[in-house]
Amino acid sequence: VAAAASRSGKPIRLWFGESDSATPEIVRAAAQAALEAGETFYAPRRGLDELREGLAVYLRRLHHVTVDVSRITVTASGMSAIMIALQAVVSAGSNVVIVSPIWPNISNAVAALGATVRHVPLERDASWRLNVQSLFEVADRDTSAIFIASPGNPTGWICETEQQREILAFCESRGIYLIADEVYQRFTYDRPIAPSFLEHATAESPLIVVNSFSKTWAMTGWRLGWMVHPTGAGACIGELNAVNTTGAATFVQRAGVVALQEGESFVASLHQRCVAGRDLVHSALVSMGGVSAIRPPAGFYSYFFIEGIADDLAFASSLAANTGVGLAPGSAFGPASAGFFRICFALHAELLQTAMERLARYLASRALMDAIEMP
Ligand SMILES: Cc1ncc(COP(=O)(O)O)c(C=O)c1O
Repeated sequence: VAAAASRSGKPIRLWFGESDSATPEIVRAAAQAALEAGETFYAPRRGLDELREGLAVYLRRLHHVTVDVSRITVTASGMSAIMIALQAVVSAGSNVVIVSPIWPNISNAVAALGATVRHVPLERDASWRLNVQSLFEVADRDTSAIFIASPGNPTGWICETEQQREILAFCESRGIYLIADEVYQRFTYDRPIAPSFLEHATAESPLIVVNSFSKTWAMTGWRLGWMVHPTGAGACIGELNAVNTTGAATFVQRAGVVALQEGESFVASLHQRCVAGRDLVHSALVSMGGVSAIRPPAGFYSYFFIEGIADDLAFASSLAANTGVGLAPGSAFGPASAGFFRICFALHAELLQTAMERLARYLASRALMDAIEMP
């Protein structure tokens, strides 16, 4: 899709999972100042104390929970936090139950550890819904972890408080770890913030929450994330952080401290941009023939279905080659995703408007061709 879009000469890259806003100036300045001050050395393997303490304050502010600093580890990205969480609890030959559709790196990380992925697809009607019973039925003696991204990528589905409680209780009773990915928690459109599994857990619950600076403060290229794990797991997580990346760069962590303390006005402006992007994309999509879309309650993606498409990768490539508009094909996100496509709407409205016009024209011309070919 990327190659086809580039060849078109007028690419609009909607398949990426990031905003086109740069990191806020104040955060960039903090990294520059740390570099100027010569902060170029190894950081403590579980992260700078200031950042871990800042994260404890942030979690209290967001979710009204008290998380001891000893349970917080800074990682070199959300992806690294996911890998470390999986390495800590998943053994080769076991299985990991994943609520899908899901960002493909997560299933790939499970496979890289020699474990099997068991997808539990969300049900789709007026909204995306999880049937918790089917989640519980899929888990068996060989299940080492359940992985839930809420809000989800690509769907924007939010795991509601009641379901979070049920799932956590199930994991506790079965001795299964729950890995909760909450990187899109600030991108919600029907409430101030998505509920966190931390709100229902104790310090001993078999829960690892992974999070990231990437989306909230537009810091995708910096590689900075964190995880909250049970009491007593710090030494193990620290070892894993050491052998994976030896942690995030010191000056990047200094920038993270400032993002937590002074980044709220940026978070609000990025959120505003997403509200506009979501409305624009959703109303354009539902006005196109053969397209069905659910208005996402969270995240920064539209995940929509186009009727009559057997091969979504071929369609996305052809759309990109003909119009420059690059969509992420649904089949990347797990089974039962054929015919779906994902658009990131955390982008400039003008760009999204152009993309929607090109997509609408392409679909209309395709429908016309089909009609002409009819005998
Ligand atoms: C659901 C989900 N989790 C985690 C990440 C990882 O983010 P990063 O590695 O940039 O911190 C992403 C990025 O797209 C994501 O969509």
